[in-house]
Amino acid sequence: MDTNNASAALRELARQVADKARECRKIAVLTGAGVSAESGIPTFREAQTGLWERYDPVMLASVDGFRADPANVWKWYDERRQTMSKSRPNPGHEALATWEKLVKGQGGAFTVITQNIDNLHRQAGSESIIEMHGNIWYVRPVDAPFNEAFLLDECPLVEIPPRDERGRMLRPHVVWFGEMLDPDNLEAAFSLAVQAELFLSIGTSTAVYPAAALPFEAKRRGAVVVEINPHETELTRFADFSLAAPSGVALPLILDQLRADGA
Ligand code: OAD
Repeated sequence: MDTNNASAALRELARQVADKARECRKIAVLTGAGVSAESGIPTFREAQTGLWERYDPVMLASVDGFRADPANVWKWYDERRQTMSKSRPNPGHEALATWEKLVKGQGGAFTVITQNIDNLHRQAGSESIIEMHGNIWYVRPVDAPFNEAFLLDECPLVEIPPRDERGRMLRPHVVWFGEMLDPDNLEAAFSLAVQAELFLSIGTSTAVYPAAALPFEAKRRGAVVVEINPHETELTRFADFSLAAPSGVALPLILDQLRADGA
């Protein structure tokens, strides 16, 4: 599906979302791996193609897995970094970046809270971003606090596992299973969810907490909730609008409606 052959029903939903969005000055967006699927980056839980269908997340995305075999985990992240280095933002990322500028130009607030670690929102031009699960291009010394993270974007990695100038082993600056999220990010994300007038949940299976709680919290506090996902999730029945379409199609349709009326 692309925007040219989008169904009349999807176009109508996009128009309704745009009409609602026009009244809102506080907009927050939760994104998941589905937003990057059209950039060629595998999601996690989709049958056959999802990362967790082919790899054991406990071995590769957990503290125990890393402590047991840091080189193996780093080989896997280096492979993902190489995939991501070839990926570019898709029309969905670009529409969110443009929408942010539109809303901010009218004195509003627009933030992307992403579970993705691929940096594509930033590459697309989004500026207000909360990276709930970290960023694959950043590293930090094992056991160091979040604020010691720094950019290490050599690709492929020269040394596996990489070490800093003091010889300390480095780990990916990403959240692993069972790990706490950066409390500052968590606080900021929930604060945005409770204040949002419009909350969009895009390309996420709504399976991993605490990020998955955000749209429900926004709904509870009175936000209009929009879901964009080709498949149903736990959120679908609670959403005010549910666009069953790829984000790279649905988001440009919404943006076209917003701009059509000189919003
Ligand atoms: P999942 O793989 O769990 O879900 C991806 C969602 O995107 C699914 O619901 C798909 O239906 C949907 N989808 C696929 N293609 C899409 C498209 N073109 N447009 C819109 N939606 C599309 O990925 P996440 O929900 O992001 O955590 O997973 C959440 C977290 O679980 C990840 O951040 C990661 C993983 O373990 C950590 O790394 C801590």
